[in-house]
Amino acid sequence: MHAIVISEPGDADVLVWSEVPDPVPDLGEVLVDVRATAVNRADVAQRQGTYPPPPGASEYPGLECSGTIAELGPGTEGSGWSVGDEVCALLTGGGYAERVAVPVGQLLPVPRGVSLVEAAALPEVACTVWSNLCMVADLRPGETLLVHGGGSGIGTFAVQFACALGARVIVTAGSEAKLERCRELGAAVAINYREEDFAARVKDATGGAGADVILDIMGGSYLESNVRSLAVGGRLVIIGLMGGRKAELDIGRMLVKRLSVQATTLRSRPAEEKARIVAGVAGQVWPLLAAGSVRPVVDHTLPLHQAAAAHRIMESSAHVGKLVLTV
Ligand SMILES: NC(=O)c1ccc[n+]([C@@H]2O[C@H](COP(=O)([O-])OP(=O)(O)OC[C@H]3O[C@@H](n4cnc5c(N)ncnc54)[C@H](OP(=O)(O)O)[C@@H]3O)[C@@H](O)[C@H]2O)c1
Repeated sequence: MHAIVISEPGDADVLVWSEVPDPVPDLGEVLVDVRATAVNRADVAQRQGTYPPPPGASEYPGLECSGTIAELGPGTEGSGWSVGDEVCALLTGGGYAERVAVPVGQLLPVPRGVSLVEAAALPEVACTVWSNLCMVADLRPGETLLVHGGGSGIGTFAVQFACALGARVIVTAGSEAKLERCRELGAAVAINYREEDFAARVKDATGGAGADVILDIMGGSYLESNVRSLAVGGRLVIIGLMGGRKAELDIGRMLVKRLSVQATTLRSRPAEEKARIVAGVAGQVWPLLAAGSVRPVVDHTLPLHQAAAAHRIMESSAHVGKLVLTV
């Protein structure tokens, strides 16, 4: 088969379309003929050499895919999946390839009303957003959610999902075009972080109370403002470190407002935990996609052998939503 190989750590040009050995499904895995995959920020960090795949994972990038089951591996008979089934999947790596081996617990059906290509844009954002907003932060209807990076792949999904849950959503983003797209997706308040102090705007927009939950991709540089933006009983969930990994935390403010600060990552979780998240997503998120209240947001679709071009778009941050790569 062919796959995108990272020839050495570096810029987008190190992504090379190469002939490589086919993957062999392990115990509990099926082989999927990939139709499409999607680009995540983590792939850029992996390409640059700062985010190596966890032990045992494929060396090729790609945290999600869609495609057709080509072969049932050992121990997967009776799993409910059959050769020829159209699926999408959460991966620990290896999606930038013509074939990938996937643990059965990480397979999802293609949601009704979503094409096989679009389905590749869903597993990583759906699993990340659902696990953090529902399992970790326990976001409830009527609460206010602040989403940083509202125009990102994660952000565009989080806005729609939280609105479907009945939450009120505030976003930050860096351009008027992204803010407008977030409003179209359901955001009640959209803040340009380049021009405004988001903590002050959040206070204004919530009658002085603050946000109940924050989904944060920035980390260190936003910690202080995030803690200031939370309401009493607020929950900050950090999923990205685009603003650095270290900062000072005002525990006094946390005590008084009874806050929690948590940080999570999906990729390094064991397969059993990923399977639990995938099952939760199938039960609680897929019906929203089938009903049309949440939709995949795809900015560009390119052929997989042009992965370098897709990485350049992601690094420019010009995109809104996901970048999909087709085989
Ligand atoms: N922990 C997990 O399990 C997990 C899983 C998936 C993703 N993530 C993280 O979630 C984040 C988003 O991922 P993604 O794949 O959705 O990425 P993405 O689509 O590339 O979005 C990243 C967004 O961040 C904003 N941004 C970039 N540089 C910035 C800066 N210096 N200051 C402020 N904002 C900046 C950009 O929007 P603007 O134009 O508005 O600046 C861009 O749209 C990444 O940090 C990723 O690592 C974490």
